[in-house]
Amino acid sequence: MSVFTILFVSDLCGKAGRQAAAHMIKPLREKYNVDYVICNVENAAGGFGITPEMSRKAYSYGIDMQTSGNHIWDRYEIVPYLKTNPKLLRPANFPHGVPGFGYFIDEVNGVKIATVNLMGRTYMKDIDCPFFTADKIIAHVSQETNLIFVDMHAEATSEKQAMLYYLDGDVSAIVGTHTHIQTADEHVSPNGTAYISDAGMTGPYDSIIGMEKEPSLQRFITGMPKRFTTATGDVRLAGVLIKVDSESGKAISIERIILNFDIDTFKPEDITGIKKSDDETNNDETECEDQDSEDEIVEE
Ligand code: FE2
Repeated sequence: MSVFTILFVSDLCGKAGRQAAAHMIKPLREKYNVDYVICNVENAAGGFGITPEMSRKAYSYGIDMQTSGNHIWDRYEIVPYLKTNPKLLRPANFPHGVPGFGYFIDEVNGVKIATVNLMGRTYMKDIDCPFFTADKIIAHVSQETNLIFVDMHAEATSEKQAMLYYLDGDVSAIVGTHTHIQTADEHVSPNGTAYISDAGMTGPYDSIIGMEKEPSLQRFITGMPKRFTTATGDVRLAGVLIKVDSESGKAISIERIILNFDIDTFKPEDITGIKKSDDETNNDETECEDQDSEDEIVEE
């Protein structure tokens, strides 16, 4: 049996999330001997979408594949980028003709891995059926590989669990995203599908799902739209580590990850236990720094 290790880094939120990713993913790759890193980046730009520059830069953090969700359209400049960059996915069940790609088959050291991005419809946009869309894509990609990872971006836990029941044994993993709150229900089904209802958020936890608390609270109290900015305090990286038999595509294990990150004190050896020179470890998140000044967006 050949073990293929996937690190999924969940919803990268704002500058704090990008900084955590920039500093922590490479040491995590090293520590866990990770073959492939998938990250949901739909909140990278101040919580609302991602810019082409941020998407390009994410590869330098050690991310191989990027998924998204309902916020993928928030930065209009991402639309032409999506058409030519199939390693940044938008949900596959947007209607026919929508720009971008909903799945991608990659190859790592001779092993093919398919990543599929789906979006739920409960309390979300009424787009095409994620279940029937999954059928079509899995019938297609399974001709090339048994190693299939699904990011199920959805609000309702029930819809995510329904997707597990629907695809159980047909895919290697179904990882829920969108709510930003990590759930404690990770498990591998008897049919070999790893599952978690939500992998959490990589970003500021002194917040309301990544945003400054006061505007969010006022929106609930008053019912009025408020200008949101990403929070900055108590930054953590969250996600799951999944081991899969690369031949059968069956999951072996799934483990939750949630790690504190303080940019002023973080050292890669906190993760790897191996001290390196500053030159090797310096990976400041500077190029996209200014873009959070544009991140104040009035929520719909
Ligand atoms: Fe979302």
